[in-house]
Amino acid sequence: MEIINSVKELKAKVSALRSDNKTVGLVPTMGALHAGHASLVTRSVKENDATVVSVFVNPTQFNDKKDLQAYPRTLEADCALLQSIGADYVFAPSVEEVYPEPDTRSFSYPPTDTVMEGAFRPGHFNGVCQIVSKLFMFVEPDKAYFGEKDFQQIAVIKAMVADYVSRNAEWAKRLEICPCPIVREEDGLALSSRNTLLAENERAIAPNIYKALKESVKFSKTHTVEETQQMAVNQINAVDGLEVQYYDIVNALTLESVSSWDDADHIQGCITVFCGATPIRLIDNINYK
Ligand code: PAF
Repeated sequence: MEIINSVKELKAKVSALRSDNKTVGLVPTMGALHAGHASLVTRSVKENDATVVSVFVNPTQFNDKKDLQAYPRTLEADCALLQSIGADYVFAPSVEEVYPEPDTRSFSYPPTDTVMEGAFRPGHFNGVCQIVSKLFMFVEPDKAYFGEKDFQQIAVIKAMVADYVSRNAEWAKRLEICPCPIVREEDGLALSSRNTLLAENERAIAPNIYKALKESVKFSKTHTVEETQQMAVNQINAVDGLEVQYYDIVNALTLESVSSWDDADHIQGCITVFCGATPIRLIDNINYK
């Protein structure tokens, strides 16, 4: 496995792979890797001749400076894990390397990027599109892998790629976005790099989020969308130390809220919960149909 810090070197490596007719998988990450990331990398290794994993805490997607500073950084441990599961290249650039000058591009794909996280974290998805589009243009992968814990992020990235396809970008036409299932702890908590920031008492209550979501799926069989949403919110808010920021039940493709279970073929519940005193912001989602 090779660790690459410069864009020039990265482009040279992938263009050599391409000349050899090798397929390339890309797994974009912000590091602090866990079994969820490992599942993406393992899938990419299986499905492509070479796998590039980017490890870059992207400043433009943080709308809160403190959140950016607190984000865990564990490059050495990340590289050890990536080596053990067969990644070929780790791209770990500096901020200056990725953004030699401020990125002034703006991306807008309503409603996917304006609802839920888009409403509560202004500018977040613009930053995600800035970095992910750069990574796509650097690597020009055949496949790119993203975890479904960030359900909305996948919808935004798909909209961005469709936009580049409509503008005839060759890299976008070839690219396949591959969503991968959420990996959970035994007690149901969705794996997240942010989980390492949870104090012991916070970690103990966090599984109540998924517990309520799962119970809400059963509840939904005999109740309306609104009743189901309220049930999940009430059950989570009843736990001392948890506070729901939003719980939206949406059309899984467009991310528009639904008011009836007949409104869409695929329906997803997407939640954000504040956990503990700090507080740590945890997201999760569940499929209803
Ligand atoms: O999901 C993440 O970790 C980040 O948003 C991503 C896709 C790596 C872009 O920085």
